Amino acid sequence: MSKVLEIRSLSKRYHQGKALLDAVDLDLSAGERAALIGASGSGKSTLLHLIAGLESADAGYIKLDGELIDASKPAQCARLRAQHIGFVFQAFHLLPQLTALQNVSVPALLLGATEKAAHFKAASLLEQLGLTARAHAKPSELSGGEQQRVAIARALIHEPRLILADEPTGNLDPESAELVMALLQAALHSRACALLLVTHDLQRARLFDPCWQLVQGKLQVGR
Ligand SMILES: Nc1ncnc2c1ncn2[C@@H]1O[C@H](COP(=O)(O)OP(=O)(O)OP(=O)(O)O)[C@@H](O)[C@H]1O
Ligand SMILES: [Mg+2]
Repeated sequence: MSKVLEIRSLSKRYHQGKALLDAVDLDLSAGERAALIGASGSGKSTLLHLIAGLESADAGYIKLDGELIDASKPAQCARLRAQHIGFVFQAFHLLPQLTALQNVSVPALLLGATEKAAHFKAASLLEQLGLTARAHAKPSELSGGEQQRVAIARALIHEPRLILADEPTGNLDPESAELVMALLQAALHSRACALLLVTHDLQRARLFDPCWQLVQGKLQVGR
């Protein structure tokens, strides 16, 4: 299996506080699905932001498909994210002026797809997530769970190598949560990609292999 993500000795602290991440090592290969658990404030979202080059680490390195993620080079990081990462943000970050369908289409358009092709694929993803009837609604007209599913579709449309999902089922009813997990699972089966999923749902996390837990800045095998 080819290595998608390689993290070595990654450390991060905010201001002069205690190290949030303390020499973290992590490897993820294509086809692997990893869960990341940990108390609120333990640094899970921070780790995902570092991987996506949205924040810079204090020490250590992150490689995506062998290429160094250097947050001091925003243009390079933006390219890597656009091409290789699907990020489901904890706070969704949908574009408010665009409809659900248009939001989902954005990553495909950025990579050069025609509007017709992007909309076709976006519509198919929205259908799989039970959102066909809401495709032309704007984020402000959608419930939290609907916005979350739009964000998930947007993270998958460009078939990324690495899916970073920050509590992607946090706002969903059990049925919608299963739809989302099935879609993520299908993405892993059909393509050579890897998934790193942050969750507070311990039962779900235990189904993942590996399952890691962030405790005082260290990555441990989750329990
Ligand atoms: N930009 C920032 N400046 C200062 N402190 C920050 C910043 N971003 C996050 N923090 C702090 O770092 C800690 C870790 O935040 P993070 O969002 O990574 O936690 P988390 O594990 O994702 O928590 P949750 O489960 O609640 O989402 C928190 O105490 C948070 O207040
Ligand atoms: Mg978080």
